[in-house]
Amino acid sequence: MSTAPTLTLTRPDDWHLHLRDGAALAAVVPHTAAQFGRAIVMPNLRPPVTTTAQALAYKARIAQAVPAGVAFEPLMTLYLTDATPADEMARARDAGIVALKLYPAGATTNSDAGVTDIRKTYRTLEAMQRLDLKLLVHGEVTDPEVDLFDREAVFIERVLAPLRRDFPALKIVFEHITTREAAQYVESADARLAATITAHHLLYNRNALFLGGIRPHYYCLPVLKREVHRQALVRAATSGSPKFFLGTDSAPHPAHLKEHASGCAGCYTALSAIELYAEAFEAAGALQRLEGFAAFHGADFYGLPRHRDRITLRRERWTLPEQLPFGDAVVKPLRGGETLAWRLA
Ligand code: DOR
Ligand code: ZN
Repeated sequence: MSTAPTLTLTRPDDWHLHLRDGAALAAVVPHTAAQFGRAIVMPNLRPPVTTTAQALAYKARIAQAVPAGVAFEPLMTLYLTDATPADEMARARDAGIVALKLYPAGATTNSDAGVTDIRKTYRTLEAMQRLDLKLLVHGEVTDPEVDLFDREAVFIERVLAPLRRDFPALKIVFEHITTREAAQYVESADARLAATITAHHLLYNRNALFLGGIRPHYYCLPVLKREVHRQALVRAATSGSPKFFLGTDSAPHPAHLKEHASGCAGCYTALSAIELYAEAFEAAGALQRLEGFAAFHGADFYGLPRHRDRITLRRERWTLPEQLPFGDAVVKPLRGGETLAWRLA
């Protein structure tokens, strides 16, 4: 394994990110903007971002939170509902919206307004396919009969496979995949299907949730899975396949709502995202593959230019803060208080 003291790569992008709004937005945007050139911003605000006008207003609020002198481009998405009108799609495309996000109703944080039956969205999906708007999917069924740990695998057969048959030209990102089944399905599909993978699903298996007591800061959705799944995700991410790319799913919540009887799902990783990915790739002996995963594959899939500037990581042990200001509350980053091996210069 290389022990080079620095690692330089083309500036990466985060292809799946939650920024929230208001004071929380102002607290987290600088962390992402310090690392990434662009990010796909999730629309699951309260109320959700369902129209082009709302997305443009949200984009302007994000821009105001970017520190002076920092170049960061938020890429906006709309929240797909049963009632999203097909004719909104041309407006969205013309305004630079890149994608719509499919949340099965009830699958995760702020998904109550999500899709109850995918067939209700077919006219809108046809328009998206025609206009090359991407579909980003939270790939879990919500059927209470299906075990929580199986919801992603069942989503592939019940929803994703039929959807791809009906919309063969639609470009789809299977977001934050967590299972061997999903990695294999994406790998064997055509080039119109890709997947994002989070740093925490590359680093941890479900034991992390319970080690020494219940640990709510490791709880996210889809939930961490068994070690065989983590290993399959590491193989996919480090394989060099252009179908897999970086998406942190960094999802900040006030610490008191995670340390709660019914704690919120979401891991906050934006402060040290690229460092966490570097750790995962290094453990797999694949640091040379990090640049493709973090900086090339996503841009190529979305048809956007790769960045021309570079970032440098130094091999330097440092301790991640235990908590950070988050509006009136605090947010606790994943691995807070622990040591990391790499640090963004
Ligand atoms: O863990 C998660 N948190 N998964 C999601 O799908 C949503 C996200 C959030 O918005 O907090
Ligand atoms: Zn997410």
